[in-house]
Amino acid sequence: MDLKVNLKGRDFLKLLDFTREEILFLLDLAAELKDKKKKGIPVDTLRGKNVALIFEKTSTRTRCAFETAAHDLGLGTTYLDPSGSQIGKKESIADTARVLSGMFEGIEYRGFGQDIVEELAEYASVPVWNGLTNEFHPTQMLADLLTIREHFGRLQGIRLTYMGDARYNMGNSLMAACALMGMHFTACTTPEYFPADELTHRCRELAAASGGSVTLTENVEQGARGADVIYTDVWVSMGEPEQVWEERIRELTPYQVNRQVMEYAGENAVFMHCLPAFHDLKTTTGAQIGQRFGITEMEVTDEVFESDKSLVFQEAENRMHTIKAVMAATLS
Ligand code: CP
Ligand code: NVA
Repeated sequence: MDLKVNLKGRDFLKLLDFTREEILFLLDLAAELKDKKKKGIPVDTLRGKNVALIFEKTSTRTRCAFETAAHDLGLGTTYLDPSGSQIGKKESIADTARVLSGMFEGIEYRGFGQDIVEELAEYASVPVWNGLTNEFHPTQMLADLLTIREHFGRLQGIRLTYMGDARYNMGNSLMAACALMGMHFTACTTPEYFPADELTHRCRELAAASGGSVTLTENVEQGARGADVIYTDVWVSMGEPEQVWEERIRELTPYQVNRQVMEYAGENAVFMHCLPAFHDLKTTTGAQIGQRFGITEMEVTDEVFESDKSLVFQEAENRMHTIKAVMAATLS
């Protein structure tokens, strides 16, 4: 492990706040913690400390990952759900940050604007971890990078193509992650869904220094051809209005990840998705949308999702190991 890297006391708000070396340090620590978990070696060195887990949007993976990782580290947890706290309604973010800093050694926050988690971190005197905002999903990035490294044995030079809504938290975060780690990122979608110009510009500068690249294309065959990883996410994200479903389905269906896309990528390509995914009608939202628009799958076909190319459940498990690394590194 790199002894030069010390993340104690740091916030984890977006990957762009970290260097390549610091990210590699977190990935190595996550791999070590994963190995220990598999071998049943205890890592509960943070006993006596407590963390607050604030979720202003719903979650399965992120909440469970934070809770199980915290418990493995010996940390106590308090979960604040979208309706069960005063945050933002009767108490400002700045006041909440100072109240919680007196009781907890760390604070996770999932919510809306990135500015909110940044403000929470500014006023908190303990580390703040971003569990997803509209703009970024940094803990997901560590899980994705670990999964890619486990599968391909490296990150440098890996070609990742993101299809669909690339201007939201997942597209933004993956572009930044690839740019930092020397990977080749392609956003394959209509220009309306490309990441914002300013972020793209910054990521292109980072990619030039890391040996990676950033490409934006509307052409599915060009975007998918030769990719190592084909990645997609839901077409409508948490907090977006119901009314956008119609235009999203119309505009993003050409960028659905299906057998043809995986064939363009080639036989060694894998499929990734942060989850949850609409790949069948076995959810209430999926069934409603399916009935309304006469479709059975959305951003990814069930065939690709269930195929042996799909790394989605390994990726989901890695949320826990990588979140454990973030808490361990910033608290001890
Ligand atoms: N990928 C992810 O963040 O999942 P949850 O919304 O279930 O936490
Ligand atoms: N873009 C999705 C990601 C969920 C993990 C959302 O924000 O809902």
